Amino acid sequence: MKRLVILISGRGSNMTAILDAVGDGKIAGEVMAVISNRPDAAGLAIAAGRAIATVSIDHRAYPDRDAFENALAAAIDAQAPDLIILAGFMRILSEAFVDRYAGRMINIHPSLLPTYPGLDTHTRAIADGVRIHGCTVHFVTDDVDHGPIIAQAAVPVRNDDDAKTLAARVLEAEHRTLVAAVGWFCAGRLVIDGARVRVKNERADLRPQIVPAPDLS
Ligand code: GRF
Repeated sequence: MKRLVILISGRGSNMTAILDAVGDGKIAGEVMAVISNRPDAAGLAIAAGRAIATVSIDHRAYPDRDAFENALAAAIDAQAPDLIILAGFMRILSEAFVDRYAGRMINIHPSLLPTYPGLDTHTRAIADGVRIHGCTVHFVTDDVDHGPIIAQAAVPVRNDDDAKTLAARVLEAEHRTLVAAVGWFCAGRLVIDGARVRVKNERADLRPQIVPAPDLS
């Protein structure tokens, strides 16, 4: 069983998807703790309700980023995790912090990276008129939202979408994509090869050959 620590800042739906998959035995891991930089994060109450240890490290209570990250690292290291999952964790982390967890920290991002790194991804995608949007799970490196990509899922952008409806569609894809990535990591199936990640024993029958093109109708 791999030891997992989940970092959140808000509602925690991606965290909940992992807790559900662990509970169902789909992921060979155990969630040791959920840590939030926001004491009021709704996800903390959800985790506590499932008897998961929760830690709140309010970044506003620390004089600078180093002090905050030292406290965060101490809370993470206390669990001796194999994998740290950033599941809607909304703080930028320093190079030293990221390097400390190289190869064992992953992030879910609501766009098809490398397009739309950063914030407001759905609003930007709609403003650009793209017809396909999605989400990415990647290893975390110093280059924010740019580490080796583990998994992606694409969703259509519909004529009547606004940022909210598009975000809801992407979020469903996020839950599945993150669960798959964490499951693969826990099963020892991920190999980082430079900028790429290879998934060992990838099932050809489940691997889409193309993202479906629209029908003329
Ligand atoms: C997700 O869209 C995640 O990709 C983004 O913030 C949102 C967090 O949602 N970075 P939740 O807290 O997992 O519900």
